[in-house]
Amino acid sequence: MTAQKHSGQNVPPHAHYAVHLPAPDDFAFWRERARGLIQCDVPPDRVAWIEPGATGDLFGSEGPARGGDKRLPVPPADAPPVRASQRFLDVARSAALHSDPARFGLLYHVLWRLQRQPRLMEDKADVQVRRLEELAKSVRRDAHKMHAFVRFREVAEEDGTPHFVAWFEPDHHIVRAEASFFMRRFANMRWSILTPRGSIHWDGETMHEGPPARRSDAPSGDPVEDLWRSYYAAIFNPARLKVGAMLSEMPKKYWKNLPEAELIPQLIAGAQAREARMVASGSLDMGERPASLGAVDKAIHACRNCPIGELDNRAVMGEGPLGALLMIVGEQPGDQEDQAGRPFVGPAGQLLDDYLTRAGIDRSSAYVTNAVKHFKFTWKGKRRLHQSPGAKEIDTCRWWLEAERAVVQPRLVLALGASAARGLLGKTVSITKARGQPIQLEDGTELWVTAHPSYLLRLDGEARETQAALFAADLAAVQERLAELAD
Ligand code: URA
Repeated sequence: MTAQKHSGQNVPPHAHYAVHLPAPDDFAFWRERARGLIQCDVPPDRVAWIEPGATGDLFGSEGPARGGDKRLPVPPADAPPVRASQRFLDVARSAALHSDPARFGLLYHVLWRLQRQPRLMEDKADVQVRRLEELAKSVRRDAHKMHAFVRFREVAEEDGTPHFVAWFEPDHHIVRAEASFFMRRFANMRWSILTPRGSIHWDGETMHEGPPARRSDAPSGDPVEDLWRSYYAAIFNPARLKVGAMLSEMPKKYWKNLPEAELIPQLIAGAQAREARMVASGSLDMGERPASLGAVDKAIHACRNCPIGELDNRAVMGEGPLGALLMIVGEQPGDQEDQAGRPFVGPAGQLLDDYLTRAGIDRSSAYVTNAVKHFKFTWKGKRRLHQSPGAKEIDTCRWWLEAERAVVQPRLVLALGASAARGLLGKTVSITKARGQPIQLEDGTELWVTAHPSYLLRLDGEARETQAALFAADLAAVQERLAELAD
């Protein structure tokens, strides 16, 4: 594709139509316009994709690129649907955020070719496909850096509430796309991230966007740096330290913003000894066990002792009264629990509530939690698909589950499914064999094991009826035992 540059935009020499994007990261807008143009059979060299603020004098609003008064063509009612593979959409969504002015033209060109070559994205030797993949990769890397290197400094608002402000310099248009990551991570804080490409502000409930900022708009060097140092030291996991990879992931450009950077040599030096201790004891060295639910809550939010904590999710703490007779343990938060920050609020939670009610167990008097505190998932397009935690991940998270159990001190624990049972026993048991009678935990607490409600959700017909009856019977037995314990 030959193109001439106008004020930083790539404009094909024969451009006939100009599409003015409302924002440089507006993939949805591009997609909708691209669909219409493809349906009208407009070739790539006839379209100029214009980002805001660059060539307003060259082209008017959406319509012809040079002279004439034709607006964008309207697709005929019987136009065939536009073909775009999932792979293309995944790559395109990221590539659209790149700062290369030619990206929207390239995306359109590949989409155009996909109509004739549906498997084009599989051709790794194709120059355009390779370029798109490069753009997407560079955007993902930029997002990863933003997750890792944003550092908040505290400023007090006039009313005395703390407000955390960070400065970051992204290479690409990722700020709005990454807002949800920070919203989930720091849901309870009031914060702003200022960047030269725009700002985002979270007040604990709503996200607002603001104009580009300058470095001098952000505060520097204040007591929060101490907080970050201890946060970083606490989440630093020597078993996962790869010095070479860490240094290549942490370009010098970011060091000046990182209060904990000065800790790194010291942490590296101590890492080997700490790792050796961990290997010898067969477990992670996590320091002292938190002695209150508030402390567990804080600690799980900072926990990165397994890879699940590095995903775009937030820790979900258990809930319920201290001293509850019954503790119910699930596997891990799902998508809805991750968004709500509460356990068992999605479909499995609703089914559980139903069966608890039928068994006469009052959920609000139980402490409800999970064996694993973060949602493990894989992206499928825009959806997050549940993935089961591995044995190692469950065993790592046991530390927090045991901390909760030690504080709540239930007399009876009900494990829902194999992951929960492993979280409580430290070994795998068969649900079929273990259900129906109590198992004594080391401290004498009774553990009852049953199936996970989402197992029922995956069944239908006779199999569902059989399993539902077993589940109801298990809960009835638990209720009977609770009544005895309460006497
Ligand atoms: N499944 C679980 O195991 N726990 C939840 O909190 C939700 C779904």
